[in-house]
Amino acid sequence: MNTDPTRRDSPAPVVLRAHGIRRAFALGKARSLEILHGIDIALHRGERVALMGASGAGKSTLLHILGLLDRPDEGEIEIDGRDPWACSVAERASIRNQRLGFVFQFYHLLPELTAIENVLLPSMIARGAVDWRRSRGELRARAEHALAEFGLADRMRHKPPQLSGGERQRVAIARALFTDPELLLADEPTGNLDKATGETVLELLLAEQEKRGLSMLLVTHDSRLAAHCERVLTIEDGVIQADSAHPIPL
Ligand SMILES: Nc1ncnc2c1ncn2[C@@H]1O[C@H](COP(=O)(O)OP(=O)(O)O)[C@@H](O)[C@H]1O
Ligand SMILES: [Mg+2]
Repeated sequence: MNTDPTRRDSPAPVVLRAHGIRRAFALGKARSLEILHGIDIALHRGERVALMGASGAGKSTLLHILGLLDRPDEGEIEIDGRDPWACSVAERASIRNQRLGFVFQFYHLLPELTAIENVLLPSMIARGAVDWRRSRGELRARAEHALAEFGLADRMRHKPPQLSGGERQRVAIARALFTDPELLLADEPTGNLDKATGETVLELLLAEQEKRGLSMLLVTHDSRLAAHCERVLTIEDGVIQADSAHPIPL
């Protein structure tokens, strides 16, 4: 396999690299079960990569690790040339907040906040009270614009329980994109939607990814969708089986 980064087909820089990722979960007091047995992955700027694998294979576990929501037991992650787990808690939070965007199957919106407040929340957390007060007018206008672009002009002050599944996921996508991340991690983003709604949401997601030149790792069971990705990676037996036509560039 080609392991020389200067010899890739595309010269796009690496946005995130992970090497030798292992993760086990406790099974009762004495035993544990290892789910990820040493995952190697590199995601390049602007590329769309599908992640497939049977239910329970460890796709969500891997996405959480790549998104710094969970720490691997072993292995290294590099974002922007830095190891986020060697950084301070605040620096790591800032990497997560500024560089990465998440879209989850079950939206993960806060039910007590309105759509626009959900979109604004990550920026609010990132800025701190003083900076937030100074910039909130401008940010609010930008969030309104983003929601309107996603067809939610009349839903901005609705709370998630008052929104349909498709609307919730569009809010979640607007939230994920609001901080202008470099990498979007999407975990079965249409898995909870009916077919037609899922297709609309997916079109929106893919259009934004292309427009913004984002790198995207998309967990999906849909092989038609995977065919629209530049690479298809499959998790099996705790490791990544690369698409043989597109070996994983490390
Ligand atoms: N926090 C956890 N504690 C214990 N087991 C877990 C935890 N998270 C995931 N698992 C187990 O790890 C395996 C992989 O889960 P997951 O990554 O969610 O799979 P996938 O997303 O591919 O369906 C499953 O068997 C699941 O039960
Ligand atoms: Mg999952």
